[in-house]
Amino acid sequence: MFDCHCHILPGIDDGSKNVEMSLAMLDLEVRQGVEGIIFTPHFYADMNSPSTFLRRRENAVRELEANLSRLPQVPDYILGAEVHYFRGMSRSDGIESLCIGNSNYILIEMPFRNWQPQFIDEIEEISDVLGLRVIIAHIERYLDQDKKLVKRLLDNPNLLIQCNAEFFIERTQRNAISLMKTGRIDLLGSDSHNLSSRRPNLADAVQIMQKKDKKRALDHIERVSRRIFEAAM
Ligand SMILES: [Fe+2]
Repeated sequence: MFDCHCHILPGIDDGSKNVEMSLAMLDLEVRQGVEGIIFTPHFYADMNSPSTFLRRRENAVRELEANLSRLPQVPDYILGAEVHYFRGMSRSDGIESLCIGNSNYILIEMPFRNWQPQFIDEIEEISDVLGLRVIIAHIERYLDQDKKLVKRLLDNPNLLIQCNAEFFIERTQRNAISLMKTGRIDLLGSDSHNLSSRRPNLADAVQIMQKKDKKRALDHIERVSRRIFEAAM
């Protein structure tokens, strides 16, 4: 099991507040059977340049790593970012440096305001012109956007689609299962921010998928996750 979206690094965004919380979150991940984690702190272009963000991320990782020996078991981890959409991002300097590890996969959070066709154009340019493999973060949050635009994303075979575990756990479970049936869920994430309201919860989602007999879909998610980890190392 791989957690491809989380805010476990300490003190860098609205996720884990300190090393203690990060360690407890990591411990919870391991107990749930998570073997690999992509750390994806929020990146907002209007708050940080990529280089400032990377420096801050490095500091957070160093602080965490200095304490990892306190855990009985540490999962594999790689560094990424949850890059919030901004206009012109496909032509902005340093966007490649926000990819996951050494790979060309990049996790992008779409805007929450009403989608315009230009948003999708921009994503397609990141993929087609820059040659980056775009992962759309928590697609379930956008399913009430303009259906045609959502379909454009889902129909684009070059894009990967990530869902949060809560999509399967909450009342939206039926929608999650029907999206899963289309074979369009490539990656799962806990999007965990803390130990209370948004805690690591991947195992609960996987359990529900197993109960619904979605082994093929789970195998696909596992395969894609491993591919990213291998490319990122
Ligand atoms: Fe997130």
